[in-house]
Amino acid sequence: MKTAAHRGVSSLAPENTLAAFSKAAEMGCEWIEIDVQLNRDNIPVVIHDQTVNRCTNGYGKVADLSLKALQSLDAGSWFSDEFRNEKIPTLEQTLRLAKDKKLKVNIEIKLYPEDDIARLCEEIKAVITGLNIEASQLLFSSFNLSALKVMQQLLPTIPRGLLWSKMPNNALNLLTEIAAFSVHCNYKFLTQSQAADIKQAGYEIYCYTPNEPDMVNQYWSWGVDMMITDTPQAYATI
Ligand code: G3P
Ligand code: MG
Repeated sequence: MKTAAHRGVSSLAPENTLAAFSKAAEMGCEWIEIDVQLNRDNIPVVIHDQTVNRCTNGYGKVADLSLKALQSLDAGSWFSDEFRNEKIPTLEQTLRLAKDKKLKVNIEIKLYPEDDIARLCEEIKAVITGLNIEASQLLFSSFNLSALKVMQQLLPTIPRGLLWSKMPNNALNLLTEIAAFSVHCNYKFLTQSQAADIKQAGYEIYCYTPNEPDMVNQYWSWGVDMMITDTPQAYATI
């Protein structure tokens, strides 16, 4: 059973931190999933929410904060004292760790209203190119089709997956538009017949975020290829 550690092993360490990614490597996970957006200095940083409020001791929008301000925050104590002073990592720090530990990385391109899609994609490309990381170690995903189109232009050899909560009726057309590799969908809404159509068309299917294997027992027989989960330790592969 193939799994990706969602925001790192976010059940055992604070999400989207190097501690959560290191935990994935220690546990023998093949994949991690991370959320990437730009800060005020146009540096790709790894954090899920539009603000730092939930996962740090600070306050404000990621897009309004310098790297110095972001990395002065404690991104671990909200989870537990054990992780006090864990930092919000940059994409570069994350990919260096992934390269070192041979983790594959699903980079979710996170866009909030008014974010600059092209700029985010350009900056992600610059980081990846600078690190000389293998395309086979990476996978882009996004709820934003335009972002994946830009990445197709910028880094065509890195596979792309479209994210949906509920799969739209024109899913197959949209997948064709970006020559997608995979479909990433909320397990709660996926049906067996949708899964059959997607597999028939030749795409991988990745489901988020079933945290108990029993929630998705039958999905493997539908052809789902990977679960993106906070609890990879609960699945048989780990
Ligand atoms: O990539 C799967 C999942 O992370 C998408 O939703 O909100 O957890 O980033 P979210
Ligand atoms: Mg995500």
